[in-house]
Amino acid sequence: MKSVPFIPDNAPFSSQQRLWLNGFLAGLFASASADQAEAPAAAKPAVPLTILFGSQTGTAEGLARRIAKQSGARGCQPRVIDAATHASVDWKSETNLLVVTSTYGDGDMPDNAQEFWDWLQTDAASVLSHLNYAVLALGDTNYSEFCAAGKKIDERLAQIGAKRIHDRTDCDVDYEAPANAWIDGVFGKLVSHATPAEDAKDITAETLRPLQASGGVYSKTNPFSARLITNRKLTGEGSGKETRHFEISLEGSGLNYESGDALGVYPSNCPALVDDLLRALGCDGEEAVAIPNGGELSLRKALTDCFDITKPGAELLQKVAEKNAMIRELLAPERKADLKKWLWGREVIDLLHEISEARFAPAEFVTLLKKMAPRLYSISSSPKAHAGQVHLTVGIVRHDSHGRARKGVCSTFLAERVDEQTMVPVFIQTSHGFRLPVNGDTPIIMIGPGTGIAPFRGFLHERLATEAKGKNWLFFGEQREACDFYYREELEQMLADGHLTRLSTAFSRDQSEKIYVQNRMLENAAELWAWLQEGAHFYVCGDASRMAKDVDAALHTIAETAGGLSKEAVVQFVQQLKSEKRYQRDVY
Ligand SMILES: Cc1cc2nc3c(=O)[nH]c(=O)nc-3n(C[C@H](O)[C@H](O)[C@H](O)COP(=O)(O)OP(=O)(O)OC[C@H]3O[C@@H](n4cnc5c(N)ncnc54)[C@H](O)[C@@H]3O)c2cc1C
Ligand SMILES: NC(=O)c1ccc[n+]([C@@H]2O[C@H](COP(=O)([O-])OP(=O)(O)OC[C@H]3O[C@@H](n4cnc5c(N)ncnc54)[C@H](OP(=O)(O)O)[C@@H]3O)[C@@H](O)[C@H]2O)c1
Ligand SMILES: Cc1cc2nc3c(=O)[nH]c(=O)nc-3n(C[C@H](O)[C@H](O)[C@H](O)COP(=O)(O)O)c2cc1C
Repeated sequence: MKSVPFIPDNAPFSSQQRLWLNGFLAGLFASASADQAEAPAAAKPAVPLTILFGSQTGTAEGLARRIAKQSGARGCQPRVIDAATHASVDWKSETNLLVVTSTYGDGDMPDNAQEFWDWLQTDAASVLSHLNYAVLALGDTNYSEFCAAGKKIDERLAQIGAKRIHDRTDCDVDYEAPANAWIDGVFGKLVSHATPAEDAKDITAETLRPLQASGGVYSKTNPFSARLITNRKLTGEGSGKETRHFEISLEGSGLNYESGDALGVYPSNCPALVDDLLRALGCDGEEAVAIPNGGELSLRKALTDCFDITKPGAELLQKVAEKNAMIRELLAPERKADLKKWLWGREVIDLLHEISEARFAPAEFVTLLKKMAPRLYSISSSPKAHAGQVHLTVGIVRHDSHGRARKGVCSTFLAERVDEQTMVPVFIQTSHGFRLPVNGDTPIIMIGPGTGIAPFRGFLHERLATEAKGKNWLFFGEQREACDFYYREELEQMLADGHLTRLSTAFSRDQSEKIYVQNRMLENAAELWAWLQEGAHFYVCGDASRMAKDVDAALHTIAETAGGLSKEAVVQFVQQLKSEKRYQRDVY
């Protein structure tokens, strides 16, 4: 659709300025939907652009939508595609494809991109060979398979003959700056590869607006300073765990969330650990050092608030390796497993204590640390039941290793370092992929052992507040009924009131053999299958490494035994559940 420009041709602007202003104003007045963004108000036809995202917890999805919103002003007609819906795309008529994907598990695709990846490896994917494309990969260098999903997709697209118009960028947790640079680079190239090519010539670097977070005022890059109003232990005497219920006030923030979203929290480090580091560095903490977002702070303040001072990152290890043969050898690509083993339970402080060559001036030391990363927590409240608040259900990380008591940075920050005066920097991480069914009559099955119960407490409160009539079945598991049955009273009340239709518990250590949630699923296979046949949505939250895999296997078994499906039909059935968004996971 061609629209009338906001700034007419005879206005006192250069053509570049006019193009920019028209695009900018068009962006401001465009409908809120980025998926179907209008063509910009520039005179030239827009460059068609498809942005496909693979995302587990919403970061890549949010980025894809922001790219789409802003590409209107850059002479494009964008469309955002969830990788799970790739089969509905008429690829023959596509021209330009941007892929924005995170990596999950151990170098795996995020759930919503798994089926796309399976398809991409088949001959049918040759239908993409005419595309111009570029890949933006999100990941975390703490994982050995850094950005593996993006790397695989990038390589495969090149292999089938698609034209890479810009090199892939692999982003670490602090993705904003590299993502912005990638976007600027892509737009320059995209335009010169576009068909018809005439669209290209007016889109230059000067016409590009910097990428900014959209939505509310507070965001990951501008967190809200919130107050912690409740900090209560959920585990009782005799428990092997410390799990806590936190309530955080969002009053005055204007922040909104939906059940299924996560809260991002920026912690501060433990002052005792900062003291130990200062001692090991031979510093008093008053030394001025540069901080990641510009400016200077005292070394003590910078180590407390701005840097990850626990996990040794690649840059620190590389620097130590320059002077230390043992670390140098461990960094050899074939010694990955040995390096992982050596690092397990060791922190930055151990490197300073154990390796005599690890000596740094304060200014250099901070350049070798990673920026403090926020931690995500599945929200365990519903905005409809707990207005202005966010509740969290957090396992506090404490362990001993190499002769030291260790503390998880964020979980212990919330548990023991936040008082009435301390502000907690937070943001909402939207998770479009983990949502209650729109129809309140739809039954739901929730598998949430341990802290995995968090979003399901939110779901149950939400359905209570909205008087949704659909049946609710919760599977909860922990070690011992007497001390680890989180939210027991409110769950039993919901059961007594009939809001919770079924509550199946699995206390793993109350008997000699382990009983887990998947055992309860299998014991109730016929009924669980019947719920699925009634259209139930199936949700899993909690441990990704073992539980989520075993629950997935149990679901397959149930489809085979109670559903009477063949092995091939089972795979198809589970795939269909996923593509209908009836099988959703929030695993970590
Ligand atoms: C989408 C999402 C939702 C989440 N929701 C929740 C939730 O609802 N509740 C919740 O509790 N958590 C949740 N998490 C996990 C949470 O984000 C944090 O990872 C967790 O709280 C630990 O953070 P921390 O800063 O306390 O620990 P960190 O300082 O990050 O330390 C954790 C690290 O310590 C090391 N470690 C831990 N135990 C040991 C050990 N025994 N020996 C040696 N090393 C060890 C491991 O390397 C581990 O990665 C979620 C994560 C994601 C991605
Ligand atoms: N990044 C971090 O540092 C961090 C911090 C906190 C939590 N987490 C992770 O968060 C997840 C949840 O932790 P959590 O402490 O709340 O609960 P959890 O460790 O998942 O334990 C909850 C229950 O699940 C059981 N369980 C163990 N293996 C299982 C399996 N394969 N299938 C099904 N159930 C199984 C446990 O039994 P047993 O214990 O008796 O085996 C326990 O009864 C885990 O991945 C944990 O590692 C990570
Ligand atoms: C359970 C889990 C596993 C992960 N595995 C990897 C990995 O193997 N490689 C990697 O580079 N990043 C890994 N990440 C980091 C994510 O890719 C990164 O946080 C990304 O920004 C998340 O984007 P999303 O919210 O769009 O899914 C993992 C994160 C989690 C929580």
